[in-house]
Amino acid sequence: MLKSARNLIIAPSLLAANFSRLDREIQRANRSGAEWIHLDIMDGHFVPNLSFGPEMAKTLRPMTFLFMDVHLMCECPEILIDPFHAAGAESITVHAELGFRVKDLLWQIKSRNVKTGLAVNPPTSMEVARPYLKQIDLLLIMTVNPGFGGQKFIPEMLPKIQTAAKWRQEKGLKFRIEVDGGINPNTGSQCTQAGADTLVAGSSLFSKPNLRAAVSHLRKASTH
Ligand code: DX5
Ligand code: ZN
Repeated sequence: MLKSARNLIIAPSLLAANFSRLDREIQRANRSGAEWIHLDIMDGHFVPNLSFGPEMAKTLRPMTFLFMDVHLMCECPEILIDPFHAAGAESITVHAELGFRVKDLLWQIKSRNVKTGLAVNPPTSMEVARPYLKQIDLLLIMTVNPGFGGQKFIPEMLPKIQTAAKWRQEKGLKFRIEVDGGINPNTGSQCTQAGADTLVAGSSLFSKPNLRAAVSHLRKASTH
């Protein structure tokens, strides 16, 4: 459980930003007190939606000092790792549902000196992620079915967070436990109580006129 606000990372998801005013939205994120910016990359195959690609990351990179956390919801991440690395991504997350390709994908990310992330969708068992725990810096537990922002948090995912925290402690590992989807001060608090230390939040943050106050509210509610 989090004992200090300093252990908690908040990652606003750009997907919920106003795309017609992106420069302003990035400035809001820069001044928000959040540590990371989360980029949701959707390919129209792995998830039924499209978002943006490495060019967006490259454009944003000089505009922000925030740690760039790239979440690839993509059928073929093999072709995206180098472009996102070149664009300045600091962590790249691929999905555990990609099966036998996961091991090589994590290796490919790590060999670029980028933090490695592994994501688990709601219907996927945590057992699928278990063989890779020593290889990763970040375990992303999806708390909605990926594809769209603004969905309702699935509370049945809380035991998965507890399992991840238990495994991490038992094995003496240091990977972060990130949650993504439907996170607000109420659900964020439930997730950190279960063992999460990294909160992705899109609509609950960017919809607020005062992003800094929204980040601070989420942080206070989620620190126990
Ligand atoms: C879901 C994405 C999320 C999403 C979160 O497909 O991976 O990162 O942007 O958005 P909210 O916080 O609105 O659920
Ligand atoms: Zn995401």
